[in-house]
Amino acid sequence: MISQKMEQALNDQIKNELYSAYLYLSMAQYFHSLSLKGFANWMEVQAKEEQAHAEKFISYVNDAGGRVVLQAIDQPPSEFESARQIFEETLKHERFVTGKINELVTLAISENDHATNTMLMWFVTEQVEEEATADEFLQQIKLVGDKGHGILMLDRELGARTFVPPTTN
Ligand code: FEO
Repeated sequence: MISQKMEQALNDQIKNELYSAYLYLSMAQYFHSLSLKGFANWMEVQAKEEQAHAEKFISYVNDAGGRVVLQAIDQPPSEFESARQIFEETLKHERFVTGKINELVTLAISENDHATNTMLMWFVTEQVEEEATADEFLQQIKLVGDKGHGILMLDRELGARTFVPPTTN
């Protein structure tokens, strides 16, 4: 059974994950407006991953005897400047999420909540991947520039991404 404090913190994180999904879906719309369908696809897959992260937390709270209370999700930005700015924002956002996961780990340790701590380890590893991927594409965009042939080649690459549901453990 999780504590009320942990329950609240996990509910907050469910909101953060759902906001992430909303943010990436909004970024996808910007790419659609530029007819960069590959970039849009990548962001749509990213949004599905975030939804899956939220569902993972939801399952855990229910299994751990807590109560899931869904919170209001802020409106994400809808105007962006460029692919480069979007991936800068993506990296920044993922670093924010990593900070939130780390705070949850700190809370779980302080409460001797080994079950929650173990569950969170999946997210600790996932965040390393999330930051690395966002940074990789940011660096590639910087290399090719925001316009021209390079961005179209990247668009083709990002169009190949498919959604793979996260593993359960
Ligand atoms: Fe669920 Fe991208 O962090």
